[in-house]
Amino acid sequence: MKECVLVTGGAGYIGSHTAVELVEAGMDVVLADNLTNSDMQAVEGVRRITGREVPFERVDCCDRAALGGVFARHRFGSVIHFAASKAVGESVCEPMKYYRNNLLSLMNVVDLMREHGRRNIVFSSSCTVYGEPDSLPVTERAPRKPATSPYGNTKQISEDILRDAIAAYGDLRGIALRYFNPIGAHPSALIGELPRGVPQNLVPYVTQTAAGVRECLSVFGDDYPTPDGSNIRDYIDVVDLARAHVVAIRRMIEGRNKADYEIFNIGTGRGVSVLELVRRFEQANNLKINHKIAPRRAGDIVAIWADPTLANTELGWRAERSLDETLRATWAWERHLRGI
Ligand code: NAD
Ligand code: WQD
Repeated sequence: MKECVLVTGGAGYIGSHTAVELVEAGMDVVLADNLTNSDMQAVEGVRRITGREVPFERVDCCDRAALGGVFARHRFGSVIHFAASKAVGESVCEPMKYYRNNLLSLMNVVDLMREHGRRNIVFSSSCTVYGEPDSLPVTERAPRKPATSPYGNTKQISEDILRDAIAAYGDLRGIALRYFNPIGAHPSALIGELPRGVPQNLVPYVTQTAAGVRECLSVFGDDYPTPDGSNIRDYIDVVDLARAHVVAIRRMIEGRNKADYEIFNIGTGRGVSVLELVRRFEQANNLKINHKIAPRRAGDIVAIWADPTLANTELGWRAERSLDETLRATWAWERHLRGI
């Protein structure tokens, strides 16, 4: 029988790309989303790319009864849990929204998995759990640092919830993937990131500046202790990231996991500065980005990039797309959105 996967947050940026890769890997998917930070356009995009009438359930994962209905209606064996609120700045102003949404949704998913005998879960964690790392590149063994935002704290607590539930109950297996900075879009330009309002993240701000929606990109600081003074990150292509979920699910289905709960960094292993990213975007797409140096943004980490060795060796996964390909795909998506 074909493996079926429930994708919570399946209409979102990473969830929609993952749904495509799961279908292309021969699995069935059920998408569940309350559309608070997405819309049906992404679901339609997934359907168009895959040529399949992928089922979609509009549901709030915090509503246990409603989510229970999804578990009762569909026979998936695994869950990829993306559904969460993710704006770091908003989480500082509205912490209760973040604790409630991110923790309750995970707890409901875990409870319902146990109730319905569904075994495997992949959880979306984040490199934010490492804070400012003591050494680079950062491995999974690096200590987690006290979270600097309620959002970041929900990722740490969620990892702990999963670890403790898996250790206590013996009927679950889980993999937490710690994403670095996901960017890019599907090469079809039918799905991509859909930021609401003024983008807080670098790449959507860059593409909107290129499209003329924003006047000028502010580079937050050029006086950091890095070679060009701007922050360094590990920008991971969203399609590569999506494929990491496919191999994580397969690992658990095939029983190749070495422990019931495992954690993997999902990054390229390559650090790229903000100024370098802007230059590479300009070169890859043959255009100019109006940008200026602005003051540092509060809370920014100086530099972080992944040591992805564990994912490379254990999952057999590695980032494949070049930064130029990724930056061309992300611009193609922005042009598609704007009709330019
Ligand atoms: P996204 O906002 O595009 O996707 C999340 C989806 O979940 C949205 O479609 C939203 O409508 C849905 N959702 C939120 N709360 C829900 C609820 N209670 N019930 C049902 N649906 C709900 O975000 P994304 O970038 O695709 O992120 C996916 C996951 O990856 C999140 O858990 C996020 O924290 C994590 N993550 C993202 C990044 C990043 O930079 N994008 C980095 C690390 C980790
Ligand atoms: C990248 C770099 C900015 C916008 C965030 C979350 C993290 C994780 C990934 C979820 C930084 C600079 C940005 C701009 C800029 N998400 N920048 N001008 O902060 O590394 O990580 O997303 O888990 O938790 O914190 O990503 O894209 O916001 O910033 O100069 O207009 O770009 O200062 O150095 P960040 P980002």
